[in-house]
Amino acid sequence: MSILVTGAAGFIGSNLVQHLLKKWPDRRIVSFDALTYSGNLLNLEPVRDHPNHTFVKGDICDREGVRAVLVDHEISGVIHLAAESHVDRSIVDPMAFVRTNVDGTVTLLQEASEAWGDRDDVRFHHVSTDEVFGSLGDTGAFDETTPYSPNSPYSASKAASDHFVRAWHETYGLPVVLTNCTNNYGPYQFPEKLIPVVLTRAMAKRTVPVYGQGSNVRDWLFVEDHCDALATVFDRGQNGETYGIGGEAEVSNLELVHAILDEFDLATGNRVGASRALVAFVDDRPGHDLRYAMDISKIRAELGWHPTVTLKQGIARTVRWYLDNGAWLDAVSGGEYRQFEELWYSDRDGAAT
Ligand code: NAD
Ligand code: TYD
Repeated sequence: MSILVTGAAGFIGSNLVQHLLKKWPDRRIVSFDALTYSGNLLNLEPVRDHPNHTFVKGDICDREGVRAVLVDHEISGVIHLAAESHVDRSIVDPMAFVRTNVDGTVTLLQEASEAWGDRDDVRFHHVSTDEVFGSLGDTGAFDETTPYSPNSPYSASKAASDHFVRAWHETYGLPVVLTNCTNNYGPYQFPEKLIPVVLTRAMAKRTVPVYGQGSNVRDWLFVEDHCDALATVFDRGQNGETYGIGGEAEVSNLELVHAILDEFDLATGNRVGASRALVAFVDDRPGHDLRYAMDISKIRAELGWHPTVTLKQGIARTVRWYLDNGAWLDAVSGGEYRQFEELWYSDRDGAAT
């Protein structure tokens, strides 16, 4: 069996490819990625010479390129992660999100349907986010029956892609599964998302920007647990079904930032608590969702999956990884990312120093 992983050079994609090659020694993995600012072949370096792995550079919006990879590599499963993934960027440039997340997903659906015809030994797994459900109040959690209510251009584009996947199943009979996961963290996360922002700025002794009062709440899942959930749903999820995935680890942004900075101090021999002084409260993100949380009863009961890494363990492993991978950080933090960072933070009380 050959499986196409789109977005394979990104954060979750590269962790997933490494995970699947270990877990499934009898399957071939074809990594497909356009190598945008957030995708980097360095993320796939550990599996570059793996005999069951091939990398193909390509854009999911390019019909011919998608068709060629599906046919040439006799793909019978797709795990689709390629996306524009950062909420702050979607506020600045929403059309990029419509193009990749909506047009790109529909292109993949069309080409997979075309290549597979009526086969039922195939599967299209669409990887999505809990952000499509909008924002929660102080209590409760999203589940697979929660109505969609996206608030950012990012989550609106992911919501649209989810609907198209569902439509391809209902209208054309494409065998699909969908997953909606909460915030991931861990190795190879591009340094524009909260946890690597905190770490890279602490390492450089720069201020750590916390939006608003830091009271927004997220649920955090260590990326390896997400990869295991994706493999589980791809193999054993029911055709046409959606599964919520989460870490059952809710925390406010400020509590999380403090926990990371304390772990950073511990790992670098600083007085624990000293780096908390780097926190700078900056203007809030427009339309900032207050709280996300996912009820994972369905995946737990039907497929026996549950998170295994606690937030404390995951933070310690993540801090260690970023401290040990300075060369990776330097390599991925150049050029286009620096320009975005300067544009974004210069509008936010000059928090970038
Ligand atoms: P990422 O930004 O790190 O990686 C995205 C990858 O997609 C990059 O390698 C990029 O080069 C590639 N890509 C972008 N546009 C492309 C195109 N047009 N054609 C081919 N490749 C393209 O993102 P991530 O955090 O790894 O997220 C991966 C997926 O998981 C996304 O679909 C995201 O919505 C979803 N998700 C992420 C999280 C999270 O916390 N990071 C949580 C739930 C779901
Ligand atoms: P982020 O990592 O961008 O993920 P998402 O918006 O998809 O949840 O942000 C996580 C939370 O951290 C979110 O509430 C916004 C906040 N945040 C900051 O306070 N400061 C930052 O520099 C960033 C990037 C995010």
